[in-house]
Amino acid sequence: MNILGIETSCDETSSAVLRNGDVCSNVISSQLCHSSFGGVVPELASREHERLIVSIIDAAVTKANITKNELDVIAATAGPGLIGAVMVGLSFAQGLAYALDIPFVPVNHVEAHIFSPFISEGGRHSSPESAFVSLTVSGGHTLLSVVEPDLSYTVIGRTLDDAAGEAFDKTGKMLGLPYPAGPSIDKLAETGNPSFHIFPRALTSHSQSSKSRDGNFDFSFSGLKTAVLTWLQKQETSFIERHTADIAASIQAAIVSVLVEKSIALARSRGIRALSVAGGVSANSGLREAMKRECSREEIQLYLPEMRYSTDNAAMIATLAHLKLSRGMSAKRIYNVAPYASFTKAAKRCH
Ligand code: KG4
Ligand code: ZN
Repeated sequence: MNILGIETSCDETSSAVLRNGDVCSNVISSQLCHSSFGGVVPELASREHERLIVSIIDAAVTKANITKNELDVIAATAGPGLIGAVMVGLSFAQGLAYALDIPFVPVNHVEAHIFSPFISEGGRHSSPESAFVSLTVSGGHTLLSVVEPDLSYTVIGRTLDDAAGEAFDKTGKMLGLPYPAGPSIDKLAETGNPSFHIFPRALTSHSQSSKSRDGNFDFSFSGLKTAVLTWLQKQETSFIERHTADIAASIQAAIVSVLVEKSIALARSRGIRALSVAGGVSANSGLREAMKRECSREEIQLYLPEMRYSTDNAAMIATLAHLKLSRGMSAKRIYNVAPYASFTKAAKRCH
């Protein structure tokens, strides 16, 4: 079975082909037109998707050595995301599925991140065999969930304000780093001292608030943003320039320590022996190292996506469609865009 995946939720135009669950191609074009604005401009994103979508899909199909007539299913991100951006991919996908007379599968972008550690390549197939804790950390989301092997999941915690990726991007902007600042902070942190300055770790055992005690799996990063801003305002420019790597390492340490502490605490409290980290921030080397260290100490199996599947890509969209179809979930004919995530704390079926 050949599945064509399409992803256009934010500023990556991507298309992938999966053959029997295995990635044959995964073409990604990252939009550079937003860099001078310090963030993604929704209208520009939609126009770029529109400009590129035909050539990206053609490239994915050609790279997979097939023609469009050999496609069996089309899957596309249906949300959450920028409404105009999602609509470009979703409308194109449904139009193409209609023209080829094949089924269409709408995919929730955040759910696709959750299952990205199970993207199969080169015949190496893996799929969740037991329940696992999922930390999904991207530019728009920070979610802690318990995922069952049947793909259903329960959201246990989420950010009360900013997402972890946003915390990287906004504090990096304060340091004069280009958007998105997460990768630059990661790079700078390699040579910096993470204990140079201790920034707040909200709602954890390190914070003063009583809300932080065991059993609170929500996150908050807005206080960190304010703390970095007010601290930077008190420093001389030359001091900041001399210590940019140390400051980046200290910011990264604050974000990573919260993410690791809460994920491990949730796994421990539920007696779950597997944990996955996904979404753009899962590319962070400090987070990967800390998770590896803690999971090995706690004897928890760690699932991480390949680096190229941490950030937005269509292989994860096609993979979730494949996992759903292989579990008997049905395809759709027409589906409307869902720009906002509607995650609830109650158990939620993934279809
Ligand atoms: O999943 P993603 O590509 O898009 C969304 O769905 O939001 O995530 C993008 C986010 C951005 O905030 C970016 O700064 C962050 O992931 N990111 C990183 C790294 N690579 C990407 N954050 C920290 N370290 C990285 N290496
Ligand atoms: Zn994403």
